[in-house]
Amino acid sequence: MAVTERVVMVLVLVWGTQMQYGVAVTTKRLVVQEGQSVEFPCDLRYYTGRDFYWVRVRPDVTVILKRTADSPLDEFILRNQYRNRTDIRLKGPNGTTLQMVVRREDEATNGVYIECQQPQSLQEDKRKTRYELVVTLPPDPRAPTITGYNGEFLESGSSLTLTCVSTGGKPPSDLTWWRDGRQLTASHSHTTDSTGQGNATSILDIPALQPADNGGAYQCRASQLALSQVEISQVTLRMAFLEDTTITGYTAETAVDSGTTLTLTCTSGSSNPAATITWSRDGGSAFTGTNNREQAGNYGGMVTSQDLAISLQPQHNGAQYTCRATNSELSVHRESSVGPLNVRGK
Ligand SMILES: *[C@@H]1O[C@H](CO)[C@@H](O)[C@H](O)[C@H]1NC(C)=O
Ligand SMILES: *[C@@H]1O[C@H](CO)[C@@H](O)[C@H](O)[C@H]1NC(C)=O
Ligand SMILES: *[C@@H]1O[C@H](CO)[C@@H](O)[C@H](O)[C@H]1NC(C)=O
Repeated sequence: MAVTERVVMVLVLVWGTQMQYGVAVTTKRLVVQEGQSVEFPCDLRYYTGRDFYWVRVRPDVTVILKRTADSPLDEFILRNQYRNRTDIRLKGPNGTTLQMVVRREDEATNGVYIECQQPQSLQEDKRKTRYELVVTLPPDPRAPTITGYNGEFLESGSSLTLTCVSTGGKPPSDLTWWRDGRQLTASHSHTTDSTGQGNATSILDIPALQPADNGGAYQCRASQLALSQVEISQVTLRMAFLEDTTITGYTAETAVDSGTTLTLTCTSGSSNPAATITWSRDGGSAFTGTNNREQAGNYGGMVTSQDLAISLQPQHNGAQYTCRATNSELSVHRESSVGPLNVRGK
């Protein structure tokens, strides 16, 4: 018989005890993942020469397996909906331990109680254990789904609500939110159908986002009995920001000589995405300088610099130069100005 030898019982709980024919019968709960093999050891006092059964006793009485009195230990008949199963067999001392692979069809009768019997010897039956089978199913898909963020740029001060959902688990998953290895506070809920299968939802509110949240990875982790490892989904935030702009190359009221070249450098604050720099003179129309360059800035943004070389002429005396940094994702811009220039040799 094609039965996997890997027997995994995730959880065994003593569920209740009752008296039957003067013997205390204990119900053990076996929590098993779908697809795993489970063993039910029979602990009745076994008599050869009598029929032997494994019987589902709850919710209804259904014979799973019968071995007649005169059959060898490895010969038995599967009954009812178990008839065609190749993953059920008997093993152990006197061939009384039932081994079966837990399937989705078994899940339909989740909560079944199973026990071994020798009906001719009910009065002498010294069986002490009856099993409750609880089948767990992994969520489908295994990894949880995060909604509420599609990778767009977010502005400072805005807030975000992320929703994590894990569907179809039995029992529903436990969901937690994490950032940088720290667990976050979130709200949780779940819904289940009559078989105990259902969905888990967790909602995370992130208030007052800051540039420092750029690149922040928010993880939703699902753990569940039928998952061999924690399943993780995450979103990575992109913040739009632009810090203050500066101009270097001229100090207020310093005299500079006509006929020389004055080079001003405009440097944007850290910006995400990278800022565009333009110049203007005395409030006139915008133009670009030279040697535009970028380097890494704060919070994963870029610092953009650009030079403006001015061949000083008498008419530059009193001129004021302004550089403006703009960020394509933001309506605000940042400006910095120098001047009026003090040009000698006018
Ligand atoms: C196996 O069967 C024999 C014969 O009936 C019996 O004496 C023995 O106790 C049984 N062993 C177990 C573990 O039930
Ligand atoms: C067992 O297999 C036979 C032949 O494929 C089929 O006719 C029958 O319905 C099956 N019985 C059960 C209980 O699945
Ligand atoms: C779980 O979610 C799925 C998909 O949204 C839905 O079809 C199903 O009815 C939900 N189940 C429960 C128990 O809420």
